[in-house]
Amino acid sequence: MPTALIVLAAGRGTRMQSDLPKVLHPLAGAPLLWHALRAGAALEPARSVVVVGHGAEAVARAARDWDPEACIARQEDPRGTAHAVLQAAPHLQGFAGDAVVLYGDTPFLGEATLGALAEARQAADLVVLGFEATDPAGYGRLVMAGDRLERIVEQKDATEAERAIRLCNSGVVCADAALLMDLAAAVGNANAAGEYYLTDVVAIARDRGLTAAVVRCPEAETLGINTRAELAAAEAAFQRHARAAALQSGVRMPGPETVFFAFDTAVGGGALVEPFVVFGPGVTVETDATIRAFSHLEGCHVSRGATVGPFARLRPGAELAEDVRIGNFVEVKNALVGEGAKVNHLTYVGDASIGEGANIGAGTVTCNYDGVAKHRTEIGAHAFVGSATMLVAPVRLGAGAMTGSGSVITDDVPDGALAVARARQVTKPGLATRLMARLRAARKEG
Ligand code: UD1
Ligand code: CA
Repeated sequence: MPTALIVLAAGRGTRMQSDLPKVLHPLAGAPLLWHALRAGAALEPARSVVVVGHGAEAVARAARDWDPEACIARQEDPRGTAHAVLQAAPHLQGFAGDAVVLYGDTPFLGEATLGALAEARQAADLVVLGFEATDPAGYGRLVMAGDRLERIVEQKDATEAERAIRLCNSGVVCADAALLMDLAAAVGNANAAGEYYLTDVVAIARDRGLTAAVVRCPEAETLGINTRAELAAAEAAFQRHARAAALQSGVRMPGPETVFFAFDTAVGGGALVEPFVVFGPGVTVETDATIRAFSHLEGCHVSRGATVGPFARLRPGAELAEDVRIGNFVEVKNALVGEGAKVNHLTYVGDASIGEGANIGAGTVTCNYDGVAKHRTEIGAHAFVGSATMLVAPVRLGAGAMTGSGSVITDDVPDGALAVARARQVTKPGLATRLMARLRAARKEG
């Protein structure tokens, strides 16, 4: 039976105090929405419908960045969760299968939990994901009759006795897609908030003689983000998990509490990650590589045996082959660095390729930008670039070529050639001594 996801992401997120739509706030380098979609991917959905409203264009773009096939439904006016779900109906016309409602601001749903939800659908028409809340205030309460769910009552509409219930609604619901649309369409708004509550589908289903069940999950999985403080707490929770998972898989990490991972960081077991390393999105580090302290990496690949840092920056498109050495205060962007090449100190390598075994001296700069366009620098295998060489792109150094320190290289250098491009040194014997004496004398008189 195929499954469709309906991801609600239309909310304003007023409490974030931000112009950015709530579901676009980053958690571990990815918008919250991506975390929700990634969680939902555990169900191998045949279709995903993202309901957008506030900041619709940007939210839709983020949804399609994750899943180019995602369907976008628009909720012009946020009139409640049932109304939001109904907006997905046109995209589910004729869809034979279950629909699962998820939330763009709820990033941590686990695979096992969603699996249990799908499983429970075998025995009930409607399945709601619930949790035992440490503090139930604000949540919808699940009113049970034995192991059957009778109805859900929102905090605002609950009696004293109902408020004492600790079993709460996560908001996640699973039912046959056509049935869910039917039930959502039957929801009214005669309640304390004047909203169309998705939670009312349970009582409506029960009235029709259908069955509803509850699957329970840990509270941490249903954590929704409403405030900046909750976002920060979620980030901390993500990092705790990512660090534990990295250590578990054999990554050597003497200061795990200082290392920050992105949602998709992949570090091979046996790699060493020193303290205070930050991974942005899109990084893979192979086994036996070393990332030394205070380095920042994003969108790059580090092959086995390579060493990066301390204090290095790898930007998107940096591709390091095996046994490469990138040292302190070196920045690499959109560049291939060949096997065993060394770029050890104070250097910028951008829009370049460096051949295997090349040595790039301290203070080298690939001058890739002329103010309008970017140009490439090619450095051949085993080339030796003297310290403080300016390579004015587009430019090519041949295999085994050398440049003299301090050269400004504007013309290609053939294989095996040495290029020196700087003014010749002039030395005047005794001039420094005479000059200083004159300056001191002038100061005394003045
Ligand atoms: C909802 C549930 C509540 C549950 C809680 C869990 C309802 C009526 N109540 O309450 O039982 O315990 O979630 O967090 O469903 N949204 C839209 N369009 C709308 C309204 C909401 O897209 O018109 C989105 C919001 O952006 C938000 C999510 O749906 O991400 C939940 O809506 P919200 O109004 O925050 O519901 P809660 O009051 O939290
Ligand atoms: Ca909420």
